[in-house]
Amino acid sequence: MKFFVDTAEIDAIKELHALGMVDGVTTNPSLIAKSGRDILEVTKEICDIVDGPVSAEVVALDAETMLAEGRKLAKIADNIAVKVPLTWAGLQTCKALTDEGTMVNVTLCFSANQALLAAKAGATFISPFIGRLDDINLDGLELIEDIRTIYDNYGYDTQILAASIRSANHMSECAKIGADVATAPPGVIKAMANHVLTDKGLAGFMADVEKAGIKIL
Ligand code: E4P
Repeated sequence: MKFFVDTAEIDAIKELHALGMVDGVTTNPSLIAKSGRDILEVTKEICDIVDGPVSAEVVALDAETMLAEGRKLAKIADNIAVKVPLTWAGLQTCKALTDEGTMVNVTLCFSANQALLAAKAGATFISPFIGRLDDINLDGLELIEDIRTIYDNYGYDTQILAASIRSANHMSECAKIGADVATAPPGVIKAMANHVLTDKGLAGFMADVEKAGIKIL
């Protein structure tokens, strides 16, 4: 499973990138607003760090303006994936940009039917939002499973980019289901390293190091 980082924070991207943990980056208007940076400027900076796809989201609601915005975002770098919402206008924009050879990430997906439409419109990525479904007592991971089944049934090339990931557990469950990509905030990726038995075991080893006076350097 590929790891995308869901942030527009340059330092966090650099830290994970240095460890080989970043196969791509996703941003959205809320993450850009949180960074306090200009969208074009910060997106260019991210594209200079990361080789893989960098999602940058349009902000218009109608297809014509979305397409113009998408074309402008696509000019930032070759690895831009233009992010469009899963609306009819977003699907129209997806088809047009895909036909022009631009990667498209269709976002705000909350149903299998929406994912089916995105695949038909030629999306490079579909972003089903796990956490926001869980928030309203629905099952986000079940949606990932359903989309995996449907895409495999018909051999769609659209990659499942599991989004709105809130926990390390979401990451391993997505990997078990077979999501192509999972995008998560830096804190969630780092939390994947944590285990209470690792901490306990290390504390025991350190006590013995102290007791025996073990030194390596
Ligand atoms: C991904 O592309 C989305 O921007 C993101 O995962 C949304 O996550 P949230 O539901 O935690 O805001």
